Parts: sequence; C-alpha cells; structure tokens
Amino acid sequence: MTEQQLIAFFQDLHRHPELGNEEVRTTKKVREALTEAGIEILDPGTATGLIAVIRGGPGRVIGLRADMDALPVQEETGLAYESCVPGKMHACGHDFHTACMLGAALAIKERENELSGTVKIVFQPAEEISNGGYQMAHSGLLNDVQEFYAGHTYPAFPAGTLGIKEGPVMAAPDAFTIRIRGRGAHAGNPHLGVDPIPAAAALVLSAQSIISRTKNAFEPAVLSITHLQAGNTWNVVPEEALLEGTVRTLHEDLRGQIHARLTAMADAVAQAHGCTAETEWQIGPPPVINDAALCQAARQVALSMGFQVDRQADTMGGEDFSEYLNLAPGVFIRVGTGGGIPNHHPQFTVDPAALAPAARFFAELALNRARS
Ligand code: NI
Repeated sequence: MTEQQLIAFFQDLHRHPELGNEEVRTTKKVREALTEAGIEILDPGTATGLIAVIRGGPGRVIGLRADMDALPVQEETGLAYESCVPGKMHACGHDFHTACMLGAALAIKERENELSGTVKIVFQPAEEISNGGYQMAHSGLLNDVQEFYAGHTYPAFPAGTLGIKEGPVMAAPDAFTIRIRGRGAHAGNPHLGVDPIPAAAALVLSAQSIISRTKNAFEPAVLSITHLQAGNTWNVVPEEALLEGTVRTLHEDLRGQIHARLTAMADAVAQAHGCTAETEWQIGPPPVINDAALCQAARQVALSMGFQVDRQADTMGGEDFSEYLNLAPGVFIRVGTGGGIPNHHPQFTVDPAALAPAARFFAELALNRARS
C-alpha cells in the first residue's frame, strides 16, 4: 500500500464510524487488506476485531495494538471525508490507529525476511466502552506476547512528534452510582417525610474532602460527581436522589482506599439526614503504566528515525490498553496528529501526514524488539 492508499484507507474508515462491538465493516476492511497481503489472521472468537500474525525466524513475540471504535458524537469538522453516519464520529482517532497498525502490519510483511521473532497485531473492538481490551487479552491468543505497544492520536503535538513517558500515563477509570433514599412528602410539610436532597447536597460537598484531606498530595486522584438528580417538580419532596460520577487513580492501593471512603461517606452522610444510601461501583480497566526500559527502547527507535520525542502531558483519562499490560510489559505512545482540538470533541481532526511515518515507526519498533 502506498502512503496515499493508506491515507485513503483511513479516510474511508473516518467516513464510516462504528460504535464499540459493532465494528463489522471496519473489521471486514482490515481483514480484506491483510488477506490481500497474505498475512495470517487469528480469530479471537469475538463479534468484531481480529489478530494478525507475522512469523519470522527465531526471536521474541511482540504485540501491536489498534482500537477501532467510534463515539456517539455528531461530527462538525466540515472535512471532505467527514462521517456519513449521523450521530457517530471517529472523534478519538481510532480510525487513525486502525490504519496505522494496518500500515505497520503491511510494512513488517514486506520485510518478513528481516523478522527474527513474531509480531501479533491486535485490532480490538470497543475501547471507548472499556471491554474490547479485556476480550482480546482473554482470548488466549496473546499469552505468548512478551511486549505490547500501542499508539494514540495526540492533538497537542504536531505530526512527527511522539510522546513517550515511563510510569503511569493513564488512570484507572471507575464509575459509581449512589442512590440516597428518603421518604416523599408534600413540600409544605417536609417534617412528614425524609428529604434526600439535603443529604445529596451535603455528600457532593464532603466527597471532595476525600481527595483534599485523606490522601497523600503526591498521589494524583480525581473524584468527579457528574450527574445529580432528584425530584421532578417544585411542590413534592422526592423519595430518592441519584448521584453518578467517576474516580480516577494511578495506583491500586489508593483506588481501593477511595472507593471504600466514598462508600462509607455516602452511608454516613445519608444516615445523618435520616436517609439510607446504596453505592454501586463499575470497575474500569487498570491504570496504564509504561515500562521504563521499553520506553527507553522505543525512544531510541523514534530518535533514530528522525522523530521528535517529547514527554507526553499527563491525563487522568482511561485506556483499556492496560488489559494487555496484565499479560506483559509495554508502552502506550502518544502520536502527534496536530489540530489542537481535544479528543472526543466534534471538531477533532488528525493530520493525515502523521499516518505513514507512524506506521513505519511501529513496524521498525516491532522488528527491532523482536530480535532484541
Ligand atoms: Ni481513544
């Protein structure tokens, strides 16, 4: 595939975004391109997604990973190749990731005679809903992989810059739902009921003290309450108040500690107001922690190819690439794609000029690490 063909492949995916676990067309397009190049495909047994494998001489097993899903966002870029599906958009650049790792797979296949070892290229579904990585990592097809690498679009860096940083680079994104139950009443006679709204309001304010007062200030954590709902009119004390939000942490100990504290605080604050609380946790993937030695190796390959290498800016966003890092160490790399508009925004764009160089980088990195 020429550089122009790879860009056309990316633009075609951009035009046809598919949400998590629905990436049927995207999987088919990737399968066709791999098959045409004579690349072996392993079936992970999932509805969408696949794993390509290129086997060379004796050596190590390296994993490359692309995610393929889009977001329920209405695109507002005005690009010639903008989404033709209303309400769906590749607003996180997973179309770029898919094309990039396809380009890497084709480049490795072309250089098969240089390959000492094996490269497995994972095209995973459903990153945005945090279950595609788990599905692929538990498929049994990746247990022999010794190192994993993934790239992610990064609008703050221009094309030609890669962000490589050791240690934690993405948070564990956990969600919670708290229901505070009181007893409904006429708003003119609140003493005949138990109002859950003051309890919910008190909990919103006190919850931040978990972050500001109970953890080491050198350990990052975020607690955001993002959804607050109670009642539906002005003259009725409601039965129940609902709070939803997210906790973001970089270390397992603190993660468990904040969960326990918030659950206990919800119980105690509710009780202080004569209510009860029920807290449910939806546990997300682990934090992404980049291996220091492999970061050094990736940095060397990037510099040798003329890339600028920057330390990526930290974020408490989540990424299910961490599911693979439960199997083997690896590195999550920011790929400069310019534009400056943040991921998940309706005007998010990537610079197509970043695509072919990124594909060559991941091919070179895999070839280099397989023979190391
Ligand atoms: Ni993403």
